[in-house]
Amino acid sequence: MKKFLLGTNWKMNKTLAEGTDYTVNVSEIITKYPQFEFFIIPPHTHLWKLKELLDSKKSALKLGAQNMHYEDAGQFTGEISPVMLAEIGLDIVELGHCERRQYFNETDETVNLKTLAALKHQLLPLICIGEKMSDRNYGISKEMLAKQLKVALKNVSADEIGKFWIAYEPIWAIGVNGIPAETPYVEEIHDFLRSVLIDLYGPSGKDVPLLFGGSVNINNASEYAQLTNVDGLFIGRSAWEPDLFEEIMILVGDVVK
Ligand code: 13P
Repeated sequence: MKKFLLGTNWKMNKTLAEGTDYTVNVSEIITKYPQFEFFIIPPHTHLWKLKELLDSKKSALKLGAQNMHYEDAGQFTGEISPVMLAEIGLDIVELGHCERRQYFNETDETVNLKTLAALKHQLLPLICIGEKMSDRNYGISKEMLAKQLKVALKNVSADEIGKFWIAYEPIWAIGVNGIPAETPYVEEIHDFLRSVLIDLYGPSGKDVPLLFGGSVNINNASEYAQLTNVDGLFIGRSAWEPDLFEEIMILVGDVVK
């Protein structure tokens, strides 16, 4: 049976010491919730140490990076390559988060190049897409999201299905100033994204995991998790404390089984 995906992007938070404590703690907690596949996405500097820690505990917690360049090596000061991430033995690389798009010039085209590079190096791309509130107000959310999805997946063949995940994260729902999205809206958009994936890949488009993120918290997690085309939740702030993260595991565990 396909497991429900539950994971967290730490963004630029937690020192290595804090991150190590968190990872030890969460690795213990998740053993109680086998119905989920869990992942954490810490800052780059923590990855090597946390990978060793997770391996030593034989933890089921998957580990990912928050970004990478698409070239294997080169004159790109400050960047990290897919070869370097693969050498650590990471499972996942998050690509196209709206904060990367907003502050660091990430585009649909670079997300596509990075997606192809990740797949080449056996890293699972977690591709993030999301529309602005102004897109929603103009009634063009679906057009914007279809474009982001289709460009990100250009030249990604149906053979790769299962080796990439998509996270829908409306920009206006993310972070401290975010407004949680209404459940019917999330349902409408996830159903639409599923239809785009089926257009692209035929019936196997049903097997692409679709996660939802943006102000997921204890009040809304189980509502989102019950939606047909929501295969996982991608959480920021509400999963940064192990206790709070476990509350979400309990609530969502009751509905996904
Ligand atoms: P918040 O849950 O803090 O809104 O962040 C979500 C997110 O950006 C996951 O990538």
